[in-house]
Amino acid sequence: MKKLTALIMSLLMAVSLAACSSNKTNTPAPSEPETSESQSTQSSEPKNETDGGSGSNTLVVYFSMPETTNPDESSMTEEERNSTVIIDGEVLGNTQYVAYVIQKNTGADLFRIKPEVPYPTDHDTLVDQAAEEQDNGARPAIKDKIENFDQYDTIFVGYPNWWGDMPMILYTFFDTYDFSGKTIIPFNTHGGSGFSNTINTIAELEPNATIYKDGFTVSRNNVQEAEPDILAWLNELGYSN
Ligand SMILES: Cc1cc2nc3c(=O)[nH]c(=O)nc-3n(C[C@H](O)[C@H](O)[C@H](O)COP(=O)(O)O)c2cc1C
Repeated sequence: MKKLTALIMSLLMAVSLAACSSNKTNTPAPSEPETSESQSTQSSEPKNETDGGSGSNTLVVYFSMPETTNPDESSMTEEERNSTVIIDGEVLGNTQYVAYVIQKNTGADLFRIKPEVPYPTDHDTLVDQAAEEQDNGARPAIKDKIENFDQYDTIFVGYPNWWGDMPMILYTFFDTYDFSGKTIIPFNTHGGSGFSNTINTIAELEPNATIYKDGFTVSRNNVQEAEPDILAWLNELGYSN
């Protein structure tokens, strides 16, 4: 009888472990949680590592706007679910997760574009504000500066598609730094529009940079399973992993 109970227990454990791991990717969640001061929705993430100390010549820059920090999917609104992925119990923005996979597999430094004034987490308010910023050609202020920008010659730049364009804070970013002689590699996440015309826009904004036109784009519906595709793309770019 004891043997039978032990057998049933171990079968139950095996089943529950398999269920836990079934919706996770191979990349573990960031190990050094950082509390946001500037963005109320910001979840755990790798620290910004842009003090130049690493000596890396590659930088991953991204903007991402997860609309909740609560990992309980059953209590999420559809909009919150659309703007997040859950990796090892952590809530990440879609673009944030892609940035994280790129950074992990290139040894690059990482910089998150955070707004000086946090965006609203209410979806409708956010959508309206983004439209208004676009209409007004706004340049929302960025909270932190990239130290030693000169040391980077390759810069991955990631953003969500907002109203068929980059969020306006990306325009602030491209206004702020001199990309002459550098290579920009775009990546984005979206709800159906892909990059829209943003790669050409970046080329217009940075005429003295080389823009890699075959950037990585993924629908928000597929971000959670995107790691193999990101790795294949990085391989094409010459990053072995
Ligand atoms: C203000 C706003 C505008 C958006 N506009 C578009 C759009 O025009 N086309 C599109 O495909 N997706 C659009 N989306 C969906 C986002 O691109 C998509 O959810 C993205 O993966 C969010 O990335 P994030 O979690 O990194 O912020 C929009 C989302 C927001 C919040």
